[in-house]
Amino acid sequence: MRSLSIHRYCTPADYSILNVPKPEIKASDDILIEVHAASINPVDVKVASGVAKMVRSETFPYKIGYDVSGVVIAVGPAVSSRFKPGDEVYSCVPERCRGTVSEFALSTAAATALKPKQLSHVQAGSLPLVSLTALQALDAADVELEGGLEGRTVYIPGGLSGVGTVAIQLAKNIFKVDTVITTLSPAKIAKVHEIIGHGIVDQIIDYTKNDPAKVIPKGSVDFMFDTMGGAMGALSVMKPGGMIITIASLPFGPDLRRVMPDLPVVARWAFDAVGSIAQRRASRYKVRYSYLFAHESGKDLERLADWLDQAMVRPVIGRVTCLSNLAGIKDGAQEVFDGKGGIGKFVVEVK
Ligand SMILES: NC(=O)c1ccc[n+]([C@@H]2O[C@H](COP(=O)([O-])OP(=O)(O)OC[C@H]3O[C@@H](n4cnc5c(N)ncnc54)[C@H](OP(=O)(O)O)[C@@H]3O)[C@@H](O)[C@H]2O)c1
Repeated sequence: MRSLSIHRYCTPADYSILNVPKPEIKASDDILIEVHAASINPVDVKVASGVAKMVRSETFPYKIGYDVSGVVIAVGPAVSSRFKPGDEVYSCVPERCRGTVSEFALSTAAATALKPKQLSHVQAGSLPLVSLTALQALDAADVELEGGLEGRTVYIPGGLSGVGTVAIQLAKNIFKVDTVITTLSPAKIAKVHEIIGHGIVDQIIDYTKNDPAKVIPKGSVDFMFDTMGGAMGALSVMKPGGMIITIASLPFGPDLRRVMPDLPVVARWAFDAVGSIAQRRASRYKVRYSYLFAHESGKDLERLADWLDQAMVRPVIGRVTCLSNLAGIKDGAQEVFDGKGGIGKFVVEVK
């Protein structure tokens, strides 16, 4: 089968479509999916570039992609009646199944949900990793902040990034946050209400001209979802008792141990040391600071599917290309790699 894959660590310019063996059901809860659409996330292009090679080694050919929307064509013996061949599903696949930008992909029943009925495969395939990340961060804040998120002020930078688009919508429409503050570059400010709808974002800061830490009133934010890695520069905006969850700084703490159990002890010690310095800085403002690694979850995708079908969350897709257009894939993946310019997600349709 055709698969977006690499022979060695490289940037998108050197990506190729390789012929690789079609995956087969190996574990009893595996699901084999005929891929209709898959999206490319920063983690795909970063790991493919070798940025993590000191702490995690990969085998080649390295198949790219965690997000998939498609049709079930086979299931393992322990897959319950929840899924059967012919079902339309979406999934963020576990690491051992990575390689969704392909004609076929493996996932597990635990990591899969029925595709939201109102969404196309391209829309559904854009969502799994970013929506799980946004939902799990907001769930954690809702549990850990006394009284939850309802009625609170949250700061979510990068409101039209992949994670940001979902997080700001979930915050307002599902978690009933009172005030959503975000940052955007100037060209995107005029587009945000048209793309996301009115009444989602309450304050937009042009981060290319203004330092959010100087614009957001001091001591006003209950929860910061640090999607861009700048939390330490904006601690003064936090309310005492508030919390910050970062997904874009160096990982540390329990999530690091869960996701990278084989990390060399020295590396884990170094990451944890950097994390605890940040926690100490945050604690001077009486703010909790933690790192979140999103985890695959069919149950969370089921919750999201309901909200997506009710249009309480809209997918935001900036670019679509197809698996036969390698030049288009390289351009889209390069934009993800650069971390600038894109809106929402980059999706590869598999036809
Ligand atoms: N820990 C986890 O489980 C997890 C999960 C998902 C993602 N992540 C990480 O979270 C980060 C965001 O992921 P994503 O998928 O949302 O990325 P993305 O969609 O690729 O984000 C790119 C967008 O961010 C905007 N941006 C860049 N720098 C910014 C800044 N300083 N302030 C505001 N906006 C800025 C850019 O907009 P402009 O063009 O307007 O500058 C760009 O369009 C990445 O580092 C990713 O690796 C972690």
